[in-house]
Amino acid sequence: MEQAKKLFDAIWQDYIKQNPEVKIIYDLFVNQGETVVNDHIAFRTFNDSRVHIDVLAKVFLEVGYEYRGDYYFKEKHLYAKHYEFKAFKNAPRVFISQLILEEMSASLRAIVKENIDRIPEASYMSEGFVYSGNSWGKPSYEVYEKLRKESEYAAWVYVYGFRANHFTVSINTLKKLRSIQEVNKFLKENGLLLNTVGGEIKGTPTDLLEQSSTKASIRTIDFVEGSYQIPSSYYEFARRYLTSNGDLYGGFIAQSADKIFESTNFYKKEE
Ligand code: NI
Repeated sequence: MEQAKKLFDAIWQDYIKQNPEVKIIYDLFVNQGETVVNDHIAFRTFNDSRVHIDVLAKVFLEVGYEYRGDYYFKEKHLYAKHYEFKAFKNAPRVFISQLILEEMSASLRAIVKENIDRIPEASYMSEGFVYSGNSWGKPSYEVYEKLRKESEYAAWVYVYGFRANHFTVSINTLKKLRSIQEVNKFLKENGLLLNTVGGEIKGTPTDLLEQSSTKASIRTIDFVEGSYQIPSSYYEFARRYLTSNGDLYGGFIAQSADKIFESTNFYKKEE
């Protein structure tokens, strides 16, 4: 468990360094007297055998996680697996998705392969791979734009590499803000933008899982062609309900997650 905590701390430090806005949101909750418990943490990758889901999952399995389920996102050409740590109640679930390269164009596949070829083997074999970021060098804005036309997901991984795509606040463990509606209202009152694709709230109590997320904050990235502002990562909020046998539902709803992926879609900050 100590090992798992150390791992999550390293992932969290990288995530808030990349996304100062997340730390501001986290502090908003803490200043309300809340203890923030993570429902899940998500990662993105490609199904190239050197860096696919099982490679990223390795470090979590080593600290005690177990595989719990998988999901397909046909339209986005994604496949995902989720893992849980049963012995440690407050451990976040881990959700890892990958782009199915066989379903993409030859030019996208060539770009991805060329970049993965540049990752030193020692990097994807290492424990810190899940928060190693982009180790293929400075991205090109032209390539980013090209990838984005085919897959926003691929463009995101091309720029940011391997690191937390989002952490998720468990609404179940909050003391004051008891519903997802209250959480969303609180976020908006504090000037935050929510992802509204498919509605602010994805899922219903009948689905046993309700989720919402901020729109990824805008960051200035140093590309080969110069500096450009593009979306980074986001923060998610989840409320889970009890199943008919009295356990808290632990899975994911593919239809909701499909829309949450769009939290990192390109958008321009309003001046
Ligand atoms: Ni999520």
